Amino acid sequence: MLKRNWRVILVVCGLILALTPNLYGADKVLFPYQDPQLPIEERVEDLLSRMTLAEKVGQMTQIEVARLMGRDQWDRGPLNNTWLRNILRDNVVGSVFSGGGSAPVPNTPRDWAEMTNAIQAYALEHSRLRIPIIYGVDAVHGHNTVLGATIYPHNIGLAATWNPELVRKVAEAAANDVAATGVHWNFAPVGDLGLDMRWGRFYETFGEDPYLAGEMAAASVAGFQSEPRVAATAKHFVGYSEPEQGQDRANAELSLRSLREVHFPPFEKMIEAGVATFMPNSGTVNGVPVHASHYLLTEVLRNQMGFDGVVVSDWEDIVKLYSTYRITDNYRDAIRLSVNAGVDMSMVPHDAKGFTSNLISLVEDGLVSEERIDEAVRRILTLKFKLGLFENPFVDPEQADKVILNANRDLAKRAALESMTLLKNKNNILPLAKTTGSILLVGSNAHSITSQMGGWTIGWQGADNPWELPPAVTVRDGLLAALPKADIHFTADLNRALQLADEAEVVIVVAGEGAYAEMHGDNLEPSLNQADKDLIKALSAEGKRIVLVLIGGRPLLITDIVDQVDAILMAFYPGTEGGSAVADVLLGSYNPSGKLPFSWPRSTAQLPQRYNHWITSSYDPLYPFGWGLSYTSFSYSNLKVSNRVKLGETVEVSVRVENRGKMVGEEVVQLYLSPSHGPTLPRQRSLVGFAKIQLEPGERKTVTFQLGFQELASIHGDILGDGEKAVAPGEYTVSVGGLQNKFKITP
Ligand code: NOJ
Repeated sequence: MLKRNWRVILVVCGLILALTPNLYGADKVLFPYQDPQLPIEERVEDLLSRMTLAEKVGQMTQIEVARLMGRDQWDRGPLNNTWLRNILRDNVVGSVFSGGGSAPVPNTPRDWAEMTNAIQAYALEHSRLRIPIIYGVDAVHGHNTVLGATIYPHNIGLAATWNPELVRKVAEAAANDVAATGVHWNFAPVGDLGLDMRWGRFYETFGEDPYLAGEMAAASVAGFQSEPRVAATAKHFVGYSEPEQGQDRANAELSLRSLREVHFPPFEKMIEAGVATFMPNSGTVNGVPVHASHYLLTEVLRNQMGFDGVVVSDWEDIVKLYSTYRITDNYRDAIRLSVNAGVDMSMVPHDAKGFTSNLISLVEDGLVSEERIDEAVRRILTLKFKLGLFENPFVDPEQADKVILNANRDLAKRAALESMTLLKNKNNILPLAKTTGSILLVGSNAHSITSQMGGWTIGWQGADNPWELPPAVTVRDGLLAALPKADIHFTADLNRALQLADEAEVVIVVAGEGAYAEMHGDNLEPSLNQADKDLIKALSAEGKRIVLVLIGGRPLLITDIVDQVDAILMAFYPGTEGGSAVADVLLGSYNPSGKLPFSWPRSTAQLPQRYNHWITSSYDPLYPFGWGLSYTSFSYSNLKVSNRVKLGETVEVSVRVENRGKMVGEEVVQLYLSPSHGPTLPRQRSLVGFAKIQLEPGERKTVTFQLGFQELASIHGDILGDGEKAVAPGEYTVSVGGLQNKFKITP
């Protein structure tokens, strides 16, 4: 009798435990999914089998942290219990993120860690199955929303370094910072291209070339994910960077050939690099919003490219299917379209219930299948297990400040240095002598932390709160530190500048753009501001020697002032160490090595203007793709190429490079390919390889490239662009450093 009673008691206890595992803490292994010894696949299936539909849909929901803070969804106040309950308990939401500017107050690394821990603790405590949340952020150039974190150059500047290893290191450093604040997911890097200077997101790209952008984006993914607690995101898939007139989220008309040849490659490279998640293009391509494109999100991304991670929507983009793009007239249908197209998680971002209740009813009505829900949740849970969230949901706030504040300033400086691109240097005015005694420093970006950081820094539109300015070295600070004995006069006033110019040996004008993000940066005529142009005009009329430093995120319209200045240094958005890097280049402590990752148009009337244009188009930019001067000179010789290869074989190209000048320098060896004929209209030339090498004066190095299928293939077939990707037999020319050679591919 006693024995039987014990059995009953045991069964009842077991049932209670099974139904309320959260009461027993995270460290107890009660179910297979909680056992870290089991393979992830097994854990996922076990957990999935225990989840209700509402719990699954909750995992597919992502909420912006501001919804959990303060009094309303834009308030950065402390976490609000009512909303924590609504979002994390009632809607069992599985993911939270900080959009641009959503930071705790005060905004220290430690405050971030405490905030993410508090949200995690609430979520775990109120989740029946103790499923941790995954927290996301846009750490696109360092952990840029956190005050005190080191900020690196934006991608467009990193692309000008042509140094994937450096990009990898920068991403690794950013990921360490991200992980130290309890954030697990970085919505970066961008695989879009910088094709249109009018587009407000040009600076977020790695430039106009699919090959270069692909190498850089893949390096960035490798860096972010070298931190095992962080997942990267390939965004924004795909065709986002060619909107009509460069206006953000305007429709892009793109042939399938162009998508496959130009836009897909950076994303394919990120998949090869193991990127964990994807975010679709927030706009429309050929009249179809990508968030509702089954073709792009399932046929191409999953079936052709083989991506098996999580697809998270961009901000409110399922809502926009009906509110902006009007392909349905209600939210429920928009959710149906998007989830069935292939979106696994919705960046809602504020109304959890609107998404969860509609999706549940769609499943109940058979309009979204349970298999599709399971597929999405399986991917999300797999990601959470891989990141170790079940075992380590929290971070140590004691460490956050130590890891982040002042970290990796040398790396930030190196990245800024290598991004500096010297466009013009008349009569070798640069480098300036270190004995220069008096300098006039003018221009709106000479001492502006906000400008040199660009958008996505503390705030979405940049660091625009005077009380929340990140630490940084401006150009003024950099020059003062580098030339402590010189007279450096700094003024914003035109008349005063003209007076001071008389005594100055040289005038440095630091102009360009301020900070902006997304559609707020769209600009049909991006140029310098009028005050800076007036300064340049007036000082040049006085016959002054002028060095123009440009800080900004894209080629600017400078055709009318190019002849009025002696030198032009493009500094991009160089980040925390921007000013010290500019000073080092101006004074020759560093020999500039940056090369333009885009073509610099003379006017917007030339758009679209690309170096890899069809042979029937013209190309006459102010500065071409790959352009950038050095203080030394490199000479190329001995260009060798395997002259006859059979289809399927690799082509080997080698070239010798010598530093003929007097200064150590880095050279970017750029290899281009031009087919003599093709199955379709050939492009003038395409980048198929590059290598950055350092040479001492008089030193020579031989660089070798291997060209395989990826480098040689193009899309064959008729105008639909759906033909096979293949290598065409025939004659090709390789060009590098002004030399050319030919080879033949035989069938
Ligand atoms: C919208 C942007 O398009 C995207 O790049 C970003 O990741 C999300 N907002 C989240 O902030």
